[in-house]
Amino acid sequence: MIDKNVENKFYELKNKEIIKILAIESSCDETSVAIVENGRKILSNIVSTQIPIHERFGGVVPEVASRNHITAISNVTRAALKESGLGFSDIDAIAVTYGAGLIGALLVGVNFAKSLAYALGLPLVAVSHIEGHIAANYISHKDLTPPFVCLMVSGGHTAILKIDDYVSHSLIGTTVDDAAGEAFDKVARVVGLGYPGGPKVDNLAKEGLPCIVFKQKDSLKNSKNFSFSGIKTAVINYVHNETQKGNQINAADLCASFEDYVANELSRKTIDACCENGQTKLVVAGGVSANSYLKKVLNEETAKNGIELFMPELSLCTDNAAMIASAAYFMAKKGLGLSDYSLTASSSVRL
Ligand code: KG4
Ligand code: ZN
Repeated sequence: MIDKNVENKFYELKNKEIIKILAIESSCDETSVAIVENGRKILSNIVSTQIPIHERFGGVVPEVASRNHITAISNVTRAALKESGLGFSDIDAIAVTYGAGLIGALLVGVNFAKSLAYALGLPLVAVSHIEGHIAANYISHKDLTPPFVCLMVSGGHTAILKIDDYVSHSLIGTTVDDAAGEAFDKVARVVGLGYPGGPKVDNLAKEGLPCIVFKQKDSLKNSKNFSFSGIKTAVINYVHNETQKGNQINAADLCASFEDYVANELSRKTIDACCENGQTKLVVAGGVSANSYLKKVLNEETAKNGIELFMPELSLCTDNAAMIASAAYFMAKKGLGLSDYSLTASSSVRL
């Protein structure tokens, strides 16, 4: 049940000129609260990371993440309001990531958002984390409008999507096993770089050369689907074999070779998808979009194919609440996403 007043407030947003949305993101190891105006202008975006807490475990411990979201969320909200110079009375709606992610972590954000919305009598907008990552690009590129092809590459998802408009998309291809980010994290662990893996592989690879060839069965050659478990296993086997032979591993070359394989797979299939769908705009979203080598490969390949490339600024590549506020704005403009107080968290979302 949604209070009639709240429902009216939500549908009035369709015609309201200036909309300020306060969003909450707690799907993994960042507690983030942001206030965004009209989906494109960040008034504040506070991200409190738990990286130092999880570092010693070599990865995110879900229970520990939930506990730390609980202790951080009120202060992060206060900081977001302070940075924006606004008070709760200036806010038009509360948005929250309901999935995908770690259930315990998500529940902290969902419950906090529900309480805020209830106490303030504001509409509550439930946002998919995936839609949020895509929307990060609307903040970074003020003139970007759909339609376009999106390469979604995060720790939990890898997919090629056709974005038809701000609120609807269709799936062109997806990973049949691991996400690209997951493979980065695994390779980092095998090489002894620890957590968070992606940025560490990215940095070390800059000192190496892509000279190791990983032969892969290419059963997905003519498909837009990806597979990254094979390359992950190939890296693990390479490390074991070389160690058994008593050979020193050149971790920089190994990271560069792995990255080269992943970036070329992502680029080749995505550019094909753009061409086959008659799209001249490619948007990249999700944590792996922070990868400097992927950016270089995509820059070169899109230029060759007459495709315009859009990637979020570095601070918006990984998890943050501003992207959730942006997605919520475009949903609210279409009258979508209004949630009641029975909203719960979901570990997965439809791609
Ligand atoms: O989008 P994100 O912050 O969280 C999810 O929604 O999953 O993505 C996290 C993933 C991790 O797997 C992380 O290793 C990867 O993004 N990542 C990177 C880089 N920065 C983050 N992967 C490669 N290079 C990077 N610079
Ligand atoms: Zn994410």
